[in-house]
Amino acid sequence: MHHFKYRDNELYCEDVPVRIIAEQIGTPFYLYSHATLKRHYLIFDEAFEGLDRLVCYSAKANTNLSVLKLFESLGSGLDIVSGGELYRGLKAGFSPDKIVYSGVGKRVDEIDYALEAGILMFNVESIEELELINKRAGILETIAPVAIRVNPDVDPKTHPYISTGLKKNKFGIDKEAAIEGYNVARGLENIDVVGIDCHIGSQITDAKPFVEALESIKDLIDELRKIGLDIRFLDMGGGLGITYNDESPPHPREYAKEIVASLKGTQLKLILEPGRVIVGNAGILVTEVLFRKSGKDKEFIIADAGMNDLMRPTLYSAFHAIEPVVDNEGQQITADVVGPICETGDFLAVDRKISDVIKGDLLAVMSAGAYGFTMSSNYCSRPRVAEVMVKDDNFYVVRDRERYEDLVNGESIPPFLDV
Ligand code: LLP
Repeated sequence: MHHFKYRDNELYCEDVPVRIIAEQIGTPFYLYSHATLKRHYLIFDEAFEGLDRLVCYSAKANTNLSVLKLFESLGSGLDIVSGGELYRGLKAGFSPDKIVYSGVGKRVDEIDYALEAGILMFNVESIEELELINKRAGILETIAPVAIRVNPDVDPKTHPYISTGLKKNKFGIDKEAAIEGYNVARGLENIDVVGIDCHIGSQITDAKPFVEALESIKDLIDELRKIGLDIRFLDMGGGLGITYNDESPPHPREYAKEIVASLKGTQLKLILEPGRVIVGNAGILVTEVLFRKSGKDKEFIIADAGMNDLMRPTLYSAFHAIEPVVDNEGQQITADVVGPICETGDFLAVDRKISDVIKGDLLAVMSAGAYGFTMSSNYCSRPRVAEVMVKDDNFYVVRDRERYEDLVNGESIPPFLDV
């Protein structure tokens, strides 16, 4: 359930007509509903009621400072994958001891930054990384808390680009090598083994792969405990899917029920890293129709938002519903909704049944709160769009639209060219 609803044929975000925001700040822009973000976080967290757990919202889905601040204020921790995300997290007020750091390629400066901040746990993805973290912790005279990310080799049945827990994926360490890794870890002076981690993929619409992964990790935890390792944290990663079109993913409560049942009696603190399920349906991308054009075989709706603003359709053939902001209840047509960029892959939708909109009409690209703005770029020197948050009957620009000056920020022309 989200707070983007029609009233008298006009799309509202909570109590604000989306059209009004477009009139005041121009298009395109991302629009987030405060009530939806809050509701989704609380539903997810409360689904695990009674269990010792920490929800670490996965920053990569949407790193806007106001979004982060909201989750921080609700008690969330944070899952990060870069120094930049750590910077944002600290700026939003997250306590470092609620931050977990994943990712296969952590650099020395990023490791040092996280060690100095005093994060809860590094999710380590290779032996070389483990050794580097140990070395840096030694130099900084500290102890690094770590979990090893285990690749349980389960098929999450999602898009191949966002499946991460298969043998062929670059993530984690396979189970046999993980035991070896833990043996190495416990011999390292500046490493404290505190947990175990896995993340099998994203946009997963079935609870089974999660349970399979959990069962497989539980066996491993038993073995590790037998050899004297004190595994306290079990990080299950993120990955729960949402409805973009006709998917029917388990409700967070069903997902939680399965996990909680399987965790009974294990004496583990559960860490979860949800991203999409919290923010995905709490945001939309608003764009204006620039032109209509009829090709020989196709009808085109040319919008002012393109693949640089929302990459998901072209990168993963992802489906995002597209709705008119003001619904004139006209006829439906079949059209491609395309952007202004000079690439054939620049589309928001292909062969889509859509209202017969005209130049100047506004469109809402739905379910764009996750991996929308965070994956946007300046390709074709297009300033990144504004981000707006609605609360009740007010809206707040939480990130300004970039200006042309921002596009050349940091660039310089060396003297030999400046003649
Ligand atoms: N934890 C780790 C270690 C991850 O790699 C990810 C996502 C998450 C948590 C959060 O997963 P979520 O709950 O959002 O599924 N750009 C793609 C999704 C990439 C996901 C990458 N990792 C998309 O737009 O579909």
